[in-house]
Amino acid sequence: MSRFPIVRLRRLRRTPALRRAFVETRLDPARYVLPVFVKAGIDAPEPVASMPGVAQHTTASVVALAREAVDLGVGGMILFGIPAEKDAEGTTGWDPDGPVPTAARAIRDAVGEALVLWADVCQCEYTDHGHCGPLDAAGRVRNDAAVEGYVRDAIAYADAGVDLVAPSGMMDGQVGAIRDGLDGTGHDAVGIVAYAAKYASAYYGPFRDAAESTMVAGDRAGHQLDPGNRREATRELALDVDEGADVLMVKPALPYLDVLADARDRFPLPLAAYQVSGEYAMVHAAAQRGWLDGEAAMREAVLSIARAGADVVLTYAAVDLARGGA
Ligand code: PBG
Ligand code: ZN
Repeated sequence: MSRFPIVRLRRLRRTPALRRAFVETRLDPARYVLPVFVKAGIDAPEPVASMPGVAQHTTASVVALAREAVDLGVGGMILFGIPAEKDAEGTTGWDPDGPVPTAARAIRDAVGEALVLWADVCQCEYTDHGHCGPLDAAGRVRNDAAVEGYVRDAIAYADAGVDLVAPSGMMDGQVGAIRDGLDGTGHDAVGIVAYAAKYASAYYGPFRDAAESTMVAGDRAGHQLDPGNRREATRELALDVDEGADVLMVKPALPYLDVLADARDRFPLPLAAYQVSGEYAMVHAAAQRGWLDGEAAMREAVLSIARAGADVVLTYAAVDLARGGA
């Protein structure tokens, strides 16, 4: 006999039943959150060219989608709005009759509490320059003025009945200010999902088509994390914990699995990861060319995000994956 007996790891991989019994991470539609776009002033859904299967919705079509999501066991939906009017301050963001509050009330009426209802909180869909808040003379987002807007947005969405608000603007102090604002208006039961580690990423391109939030000039590098920074993400996450976040988020997901794994190691809070528009579009683009099996690749990406430590995954493929039995 050899001095080095072979360790037979293949024993537990031999049959589908064995593999099923010993798999470490499993997909669960209850942990998917479907991002949706609701647009004011349209009569029918409008497809988003760079995101196959994704559309800008009317209130009626988003309600139909919510019913389908519930039927398939999808756990949640996160709302993004495209308003009829934009201005330099983004004031339509907190309009109680804007697209997000309107959709939130309609979805609640239709499906009750069967779905966890999230609202993204940022001003870039509501400003005419496409930045995440009002600008100073140099064209930089004014931190505290932006945060004031986020607080008003969050209260308007809480009034409309969402379970969770998710501030995505990466302004300093946004989580604490929103917590105070919600608590001061009787919304202490509404939770905050902090987009705590959100990177200045090229993978948001298709989203900006869908949300009509492309910047007229400039970028978001002055407030989002630099893609080269891993330790700084830990600081962002720790601050959002201190400010009262209920859930932490890392975004994008697949290119930042190291950040996600760090967050899982260091913080006991629930962790969300956002498989962003570009991650979704890449898989579809390759599948359209016949270069890979799109459904399998999407499932593997989401599984990897869960394996790295995400409890909840925001994915445009939520309904597709659930329909396919995952
Ligand atoms: C708004 C926001 C963005 C995304 C979610 N919230 C875009 C951005 O920061 O430019 C991106 C989501 C995606 O790409 O799917 N701040
Ligand atoms: Zn923004």
